[in-house]
Amino acid sequence: MKLLHIDASILGANSASRQVSGAVVNKLRKTTPGIEVAYRDLAAQPLLHLSGEHLAAAQGATPESPAVLGDVAASQAALNEFLAADIVVIGAPMYNFTIPSQLKAWIDRIVVAGKTFRYGAAGPEGLAGSKRVIIAISRGGFYGAGTPAAALEHLETYLRAVFAFIGVTDLEIIVAEGLQIGAEQRAKAMRGALEAATSLRAA
Ligand SMILES: Cc1cc2nc3c(=O)[nH]c(=O)nc-3n(C[C@H](O)[C@H](O)[C@H](O)COP(=O)(O)O)c2cc1C
Repeated sequence: MKLLHIDASILGANSASRQVSGAVVNKLRKTTPGIEVAYRDLAAQPLLHLSGEHLAAAQGATPESPAVLGDVAASQAALNEFLAADIVVIGAPMYNFTIPSQLKAWIDRIVVAGKTFRYGAAGPEGLAGSKRVIIAISRGGFYGAGTPAAALEHLETYLRAVFAFIGVTDLEIIVAEGLQIGAEQRAKAMRGALEAATSLRAA
């Protein structure tokens, strides 16, 4: 059983999503003998934004820029890690109403025609359906249905849509929100999220 753990927060040790994603991985480590964990920190080792050189490299061209040359190799490694994983755990903080750009750069490497989806006669078809994906979301405010900011929620809705597009049906989301409202609400939200992490079903 292979688990891929992804973090994207820029807040290091103060990160809420890192704490919750770490608790998820600890729970699955404890309950799954022999589990192999690969870790990718997208803030510490960011992937570049996609460029024309990346697209040309996918068609067989050799990038002129050494930075893109290295990044094309990193890109392939990121895709291979994702394809190999049975379980993917993602720490996903909300920055400006959506995912961090570091996480978007990773998604740009794993949503790949012919690898994780394809277009058929009936339209797009996801190819990553055998994976279990667990996402730990952290948000400063409240975005639940009926709240004034609900229309600004483009983090959870986006991630649900992306993973559905590539065929993932086993998707679990743990939310810690209202984290910037005050210390009491932060403690309550983190307690709830960490409890949810330890209550996850075993692998
Ligand atoms: C650059 C930046 C942008 C943010 N934008 C939002 C936002 O749009 N909505 C929100 O509710 N919280 C926002 N926050 C607050 C974070 O979502 C909150 O601090 C959360 O804990 C971040 O997760 P992390 O601690 O794992 O980094 C932002 C924080 C940062 C650093």
